[in-house]
Amino acid sequence: MSDKRVLSGIQPTGNLHLGNYLGAIKNFVAMQNEFKCFFMLADLHALTVKTDPKVLKENILNTAATFLAAGLKSNKSTIFCQSQINSHTDLAWILNCIARVGWLNRMTQFKEKAGSNKENASIGLYTYPILMAADILIYKATHVPVGDDQKQHLELCRDIALKFNNDYKNNYFTLPEAIIPKSVSRIMSLRNGTKKMSKSEESDLSRINLTDTKDVISQKIKKAKTDNDTINEKIFDKESKRYEAQNLIKIYSNLKSETHDKVLKDYNGKTFIDFKKDLSDLVIEEIIPISNMIKKYRNDDKELINILINGSMVANDIAEKTIFEIKKIVGLA
Ligand code: TYM
Repeated sequence: MSDKRVLSGIQPTGNLHLGNYLGAIKNFVAMQNEFKCFFMLADLHALTVKTDPKVLKENILNTAATFLAAGLKSNKSTIFCQSQINSHTDLAWILNCIARVGWLNRMTQFKEKAGSNKENASIGLYTYPILMAADILIYKATHVPVGDDQKQHLELCRDIALKFNNDYKNNYFTLPEAIIPKSVSRIMSLRNGTKKMSKSEESDLSRINLTDTKDVISQKIKKAKTDNDTINEKIFDKESKRYEAQNLIKIYSNLKSETHDKVLKDYNGKTFIDFKKDLSDLVIEEIIPISNMIKKYRNDDKELINILINGSMVANDIAEKTIFEIKKIVGLA
C-alpha cells in the first residue's frame, strides 16, 4: 500500500443521491484498495443548519449504512463520525486563528447556502470550511476525493496549511490534493441542468436517491427535463446550451464506462425517449443493489454502531498524536 492518505466526508443530512455517489462515494470505494483511507460522517457540519436531533441520529445511521452498502469495508477503511474525535474541533480553533476573514468571504458555497439573509446564517455555516480543513489536516491526508462543489474549500485548506507552515517556519503540513472525477464532478438536477443535484432541493423529482425503488427511478428519469432535439455530436458544444441533455449523457457514460463520444455516436439521431429507457436500466442496475444493502444494514444498527466505534478508536489515536504535535508547534504544549 502506498503512503498516500485519503480522507473525505459526507454530511449526514437526508438521503444521499446519485450526485453524492458518482461524485464521491464511488471514488471512495475504488481508492480503499490502494490507499490508507479515512471516511467520515461530517455530523458536526450537519449542525450548521437547523437540524432535528432525532432526524440527525437516523441520518447518521443511514449514511453509515450507505457507505457500507456502496462497498466501503471496515477492514480496509476507517469509517467514523467526526463528532467523536475532539481533536477536529481543537485543530479547527487553531486554524480559525490562521485563516483570514477575507478568505472566508470569498467562499461561494456560503453565499449560496446563506441566501439573501446572510446576517441570519449560523456562524458555523460561515466557518464550516475551516472545520473541513481541520478534518483533512488532522490525518495529514494527501488526497481528498470530492465533487466539484468542494474544490474551493480544498483550495482554502491548502492556503491555511501553507500559512501555518510559513507562520511557524516549518513544513509541518503537506498540502492535500483534491481528487475530482472528471466527467461526473457535478451531477445536475433532473429538473434544471444549471443547478446541481442536491439533498436540499425541494422537489424529489430533481434527484435519484440511493434508496429509491425501481419504479421511482424509472419515473424520475422519464420525467427528467430534456429538449425536443435528437441526440447528436454537438450536445457538448458550448453554444448548444443543452445542459439537461449533457447531464444525462454524462451519467450514462459514467455508468457504462464509455466516453461521451461513443455514447453520442451510438445514439446519434435518436430521441431522448429511447435513451431514457436505457439510462433507466443502467441506473437501476447500479442503485438497486445499494438500496437493498442499505435496508439490510439498517436491520442491524448494532453492527453499524460497532463499526463506527471501532473506526473512532483508530481515528482518535492518529488525531491525538497530530494535535499534540501541533500544540507543541504553536506553544500550547
Ligand atoms: P456534502 O455532504 O455536501 O457532499 C458529499 C460529497 O458529495 C459530493 N457531491 C456531488 N458530486 C457531484 N455532483 C453533485 N451534484 C454532488 N453533490 C454533492 C460533494 O462534492 C462531496 O464530495 N463539506 C463536505 C463534507 C466534508 C468533507 C470534509 C469533505 C466535511 N469535511 C473533509 C472532504 C473532506 C460536504 O458538505 O459534502
